[in-house]
Amino acid sequence: MSSVITKRITQITQLNSILVSKRFQSVAAPANLKTFKIYRWNPDTPEVKPKMQEYKVDMNNCGGMVLDALIKIKDEQDGTLTFRRSCREGICGSCAMNIDGRNTLACLCKIDSEKASSIKIYPLPHTHVVKDLVPDLTQFYKQYKSIQPYLQRKEFPKDGTEILQTVEDRKKLDGLYECILCACCSTSCPSYWWNAEEYLGPAVLMQSYRWMIDSRDEAKEKRKEMLQNSMSVYRCHTILNCTKTCPKGLNPGKAIAEIKKFLASA
Ligand code: SF4
Ligand code: SF4
Ligand code: FES
Repeated sequence: MSSVITKRITQITQLNSILVSKRFQSVAAPANLKTFKIYRWNPDTPEVKPKMQEYKVDMNNCGGMVLDALIKIKDEQDGTLTFRRSCREGICGSCAMNIDGRNTLACLCKIDSEKASSIKIYPLPHTHVVKDLVPDLTQFYKQYKSIQPYLQRKEFPKDGTEILQTVEDRKKLDGLYECILCACCSTSCPSYWWNAEEYLGPAVLMQSYRWMIDSRDEAKEKRKEMLQNSMSVYRCHTILNCTKTCPKGLNPGKAIAEIKKFLASA
């Protein structure tokens, strides 16, 4: 009797495993391949011209953002592909690049897997390229340093307490302090392309304005003087590429307009 029960259990187990494997076969989706065309250049072989290299990624096994695809390509297909990233949530600004013609953050840029055409990825435009998708931002950071982006006062509280400001004054910093210095805006600005040595560009100017209107800062006059020349601010021709491209939804074009008003009233 017990051998009959054992045989019956074995039959049921086999049947179950056949059903499970059939079910698994029916849900396994066909490959959903997306093509990525990526700019490649290697400083170790400067005689080789830059080229676009094609990679295919199965979107069934990939996260939804362009950065996910880049990481997958680097992990599984080509370890030499070089790009910057850190936070993968739009905070560090390091994954800024040009994706399908727009400067943005790869970690916030959704992959449209329905779209048939390939996704083209370049480094931020008009920058010197360190390697592949890594731009050289030395000049950008040098300019940022030049505006002295820190609180300046004659005196600080001796007991180390905070310097208070009103709720209204604090509100004035909204839309400015959130900038992550990704350089998407500056490298989308034609005026910055042509005059990057002298024109400060939208990102740095917005930070300059952020300190100018901080009620706790006492270096306003000095900050204004630093910008009172024909190049630092006035190369902005209100083309507004900067505001259009900002992946954080900020408005550097408006901040520059405010600086111009500020300088005119000086
Ligand atoms: S304003 Fe926007 S695009 Fe420009 S650096 Fe800041 S976060 Fe990036
Ligand atoms: S508004 Fe000014 S800073 Fe912004 S893209 Fe145009 S020229 Fe450049
Ligand atoms: S990885 Fe930090 S902003 Fe994209």
